[in-house]
Amino acid sequence: MKYLTIALSKGRLADLSADLFKSIGLDCSKVKSSSRKLVFVDEKNKIKFFLAKPSDVPTYVEYGAADIGIAGKDILLEEGRHLYEVLDLKFGECKIVVAGPPNLKGTLDKINNKRVATKYPNIARNYFEGKKHESVEIIKLNGSIELAPIVGLSEVIVDITESGNTLKENGLVILETITNISARLVVNRVSMKMQSERINKFIDDIRNKIYS
Ligand code: PRP
Repeated sequence: MKYLTIALSKGRLADLSADLFKSIGLDCSKVKSSSRKLVFVDEKNKIKFFLAKPSDVPTYVEYGAADIGIAGKDILLEEGRHLYEVLDLKFGECKIVVAGPPNLKGTLDKINNKRVATKYPNIARNYFEGKKHESVEIIKLNGSIELAPIVGLSEVIVDITESGNTLKENGLVILETITNISARLVVNRVSMKMQSERINKFIDDIRNKIYS
């Protein structure tokens, strides 16, 4: 039997994804977010897991280097890759928000051409320009986004918030909520056709576990 290859997001989703696979009887006991090892094999079930940078998971799945992936909806929205999003996994739940200093509460729309720092430039542009028909300057950063308004790089940020601790610790508040997000199961479009029986059984097992 051919290996089924599954791309997992490193970081906050890795251990939750491993727990889900364990619960349907797969052996991913060695998959750990803290590990430096990247590829793990479950010989018994002929499954290969690998850990990738979260924003790269949709790329591996679109190109077929992985048949299946687990990625946050934030990454899927940002990357806009061609793949099938088959299941909401109901973990990794958080929000994409516009956040900034508390004095901007209720006055956000009054700032013209505001600077928006974010690691999600497409989501930010779609929200401000597409939905709110407002022209903004998007400043792409790669992490610790909360720093931007504190040091004067931008007026606001577009970022994910889960516990809210990072915003709070840095004196920022949610100004607007763009959307709720969670982890999603995604499948390569060719794999879905070529290995439909195996992949559909896999999806059913996970669906039954989550929604039963
Ligand atoms: C994310 C996000 C926030 C933080 C929010 O960053 O960009 O900074 O988590 O989480 P909280 O609401 O639970 O505090 P991440 O930890 O992924 O690292 P990064 O800043 O390097 O992107």
